[in-house]
Amino acid sequence: MTPRQGKRIVFTGGSGKAGRHVLPKLLARGHKILNLDLVPLPNPDGNGLNPDVCTLKTDLTDSGQVFNALTSHFNFGGLNDGKPPGPPDAVIHFAAYPRILLVPDNECYKANVVSTYNVIEAASKLGVRKIIIASSETVYGVCFGEGDIDYEHFPLSEDDDVNPMDSYAISKLCGERVARGFARRFGNDIYVLRIGNVIEPHEYARDFPRHVGQPETRKRNAWSYTDARDLGQICDLCIQRDGLGFQVFNATNDTITTVEPTLKFLEKMAPGTSIIREMGEFEAPLSNKKIRDVLGFKEEHNWRSYYSHSP
Ligand SMILES: NC(=O)c1ccc[n+]([C@@H]2O[C@H](COP(=O)([O-])OP(=O)(O)OC[C@H]3O[C@@H](n4cnc5c(N)ncnc54)[C@H](O)[C@@H]3O)[C@@H](O)[C@H]2O)c1
Repeated sequence: MTPRQGKRIVFTGGSGKAGRHVLPKLLARGHKILNLDLVPLPNPDGNGLNPDVCTLKTDLTDSGQVFNALTSHFNFGGLNDGKPPGPPDAVIHFAAYPRILLVPDNECYKANVVSTYNVIEAASKLGVRKIIIASSETVYGVCFGEGDIDYEHFPLSEDDDVNPMDSYAISKLCGERVARGFARRFGNDIYVLRIGNVIEPHEYARDFPRHVGQPETRKRNAWSYTDARDLGQICDLCIQRDGLGFQVFNATNDTITTVEPTLKFLEKMAPGTSIIREMGEFEAPLSNKKIRDVLGFKEEHNWRSYYSHSP
């Protein structure tokens, strides 16, 4: 078997909740990573720093730092090549304020939009042909919306018109538009991942008794989720699949976080919301059909493997 050719990937925000699980998956697939973050990447066991990934402390809201970091060596080993490195094969941009109520709304909006613009602009102008950016389930407008809002319909798909009202989701939607414009201008691949509520391995035991036992608390997440490790697989599939131009992908797991089948549950919990196509028996309302069909995603971490609900 021919060994798999790993790519040189600059990853932003790798020290965060999602990145800490995505990076090990990418390393295991043979990729080389440089992490751009404000804080270093810890070891998977939480002790010390990760020896396999160098973190360049970079403030992504500063365009000069972004251009500079994208042409950096990945580690001291790069000096042995005897020439300065070129731009990376791919950039994956996860760094952000990941929700509202961390900083004032204007700061969340400004930092997220400016960072995403800076990363996409620098990568595109330096000739990077593959850029992947983290967007969010929140663009569907319910998650951080004011009041008890109904979804337009189910399943939620990448083709839906989206009109969120909160500053975080609007910042993510602006990032999607920047991606679309730059992909048009540079002809590169820019893939947007609309990530669901990210679940780390330890969170199944801690959070799923409530998620599954009190499903009325999960409407804002459309009774869907994203396993942090499966998100690593999704990123790797995006790296592998070239030539799709601008794309939006719901980056979620396969199934609904309820014990009841999807249609039966939605009829009861969202009676006024129409179902616009046939859905799988347990298909997640924030559907990942497109990543399964287009990228060949096969989830490895279904919540039912980690938590079994007994009423
Ligand atoms: N956590 C979720 O449930 C969720 C859901 C949907 C989408 N997302 C998106 O996924 C991505 C990752 O989310 P997360 O939960 O890992 O967030 P996180 O806050 O845990 O990690 C984000 C990382 O970005 C870094 N960062 C922030 N501002 C920066 C800047 N100006 N320059 C450099 N680094 C900076 C932080 O230091 C942190 O390590 C984000 O874009 C978020 O919006 C997250």
